[in-house]
Amino acid sequence: GFFFVNQVCLTCLLSIDIAIKTTEYDGLHLYSGPTATSQKHILLFSQTRSGSSFTGQLFNQHPKIFYMFEPLYHVQQIFIDVSTLHQEAWGRALLGAYRDLLLNLYTCNLNFMEDYIQPKPQNHTTTSFFRRSSSHALCSPPVCLGASKKNRERKPEEVWCNQKCQPLNLTLASLACQSRSHVAIKTVRIPLIKDLRTLIEDPRLDLKIVHLVRDPRAILASRMATFTNQYRAWKIWNATNKQPHYMDLSVIDRMCKDMEYSVLTGLQSPGWLSGRYLLVRYEDLALNPEVKAREIYRFLGLDLDTKVLTWIAQNTNSTKKSNNKFSTSRDSKATLQSWRLRLGFDIVKTMQNLCGTSFALMGYRNVESVTELRNLTLRLVEPRIF
Ligand SMILES: *[C@@H]1O[C@H](CO)[C@@H](O)[C@H](O)[C@H]1NC(C)=O
Ligand SMILES: *[C@@H]1O[C@H](CO)[C@@H](O)[C@H](O)[C@H]1NC(C)=O
Ligand SMILES: *[C@@H]1O[C@H](CO)[C@@H](O)[C@H](O)[C@H]1NC(C)=O
Ligand SMILES: *[C@@H]1O[C@H](CO)[C@@H](O)[C@H](O)[C@H]1NC(C)=O
Ligand SMILES: *[C@@H]1O[C@H](CO)[C@@H](O)[C@H](O)[C@H]1NC(C)=O
Repeated sequence: GFFFVNQVCLTCLLSIDIAIKTTEYDGLHLYSGPTATSQKHILLFSQTRSGSSFTGQLFNQHPKIFYMFEPLYHVQQIFIDVSTLHQEAWGRALLGAYRDLLLNLYTCNLNFMEDYIQPKPQNHTTTSFFRRSSSHALCSPPVCLGASKKNRERKPEEVWCNQKCQPLNLTLASLACQSRSHVAIKTVRIPLIKDLRTLIEDPRLDLKIVHLVRDPRAILASRMATFTNQYRAWKIWNATNKQPHYMDLSVIDRMCKDMEYSVLTGLQSPGWLSGRYLLVRYEDLALNPEVKAREIYRFLGLDLDTKVLTWIAQNTNSTKKSNNKFSTSRDSKATLQSWRLRLGFDIVKTMQNLCGTSFALMGYRNVESVTELRNLTLRLVEPRIF
């Protein structure tokens, strides 16, 4: 093989594509990735505001896992400017670029990111890597040498990583990636599990999917609080109890359909996905983080490290209120039901109509009245084993 030294050229089209790209980078063609059997790959597959930052920490804290937080952000940013393509063609090209990037990141070629990061990295080095501080490996030696031991013991890394670490050297990050046995990536940007099929079937990878879902009503409440501009109409509706006539329900409709479609794919367990799919409800994880973490690690075939358990103990039991909207350190149990006090019944009813079939599939119960909605002792998550 040309690019992956120890591997067969599978889809030669893909290899040619990579070969052409690598000629643009001096020295990169000498890179030889690890063999398919030497590393395992994990994808945390989810949707915005489903608790994926929190869940990603279960991987980020493990010393054998090289974790990346939403690397596809950079691809999406580039594609936002390409408005001339037909929408369907645009969507397929974007998905193709997502998969290309995932394949290269899973095989520890982080230099492939250079195609997408703006401004363009100089000498394989950048200060613009999206959410670098959410990746433990990218804030630790040898990738980050600028932080003292005292800095590094301060938690969370988000607070000091970007200030203390020198600009990110992607070549060095690739080497750090190769030294770990597992590469885990979290993304909320792939619509459907079936979009990942080519990656799951790629023999260069040994990929397992952890599919994180959450009650769509809770997702909506969280998005309203986080993305105030995009969800302005919902906020007006919530504040006035009157649905604005220009209300666009399609985003939420799409979210529920995508979630339902992917859960169905996963639970039907087609041959290409068999043994490689785990469905996790955020509610179960937040209520019993240690039990669920053990289940996830069993599925991955990896021992649960004490560092992960320590993180769970320190971050699922806090009473301090964080003002960082992407914060993962909070009392997961206390916030779990807060949407029930923050959404008008009208909105909840509309959500139940839009998302009804996915609710049944995942074990989320409808409420019939505002009294039921606000009665927090009434459980809306049915016990389920998937
Ligand atoms: C990149 O490296 C070259 C050679 O070491 C150096 O001359 C140049 O200034 C570097 N560029 C940047 C932006 O650091
Ligand atoms: C980045 O790291 C590589 C590998 O350690 C090193 O050879 C290279 O000189 C570094 N680049 C910069 C700009 O520091
Ligand atoms: C959580 O906090 C409570 C009260 O502060 C304490 O009793 C309990 O042991 C803590 N649990 C964990 C898992 O740390
Ligand atoms: C919805 O309205 C209620 C009552 O006015 C308010 O307390 C709550 O914070 C609002 N929820 C959101 C998500 O904006
Ligand atoms: C709240 O729900 C619980 C459990 O279903 C029920 O026993 C209780 O009577 C309800 N409280 C009110 C005020 O409706």
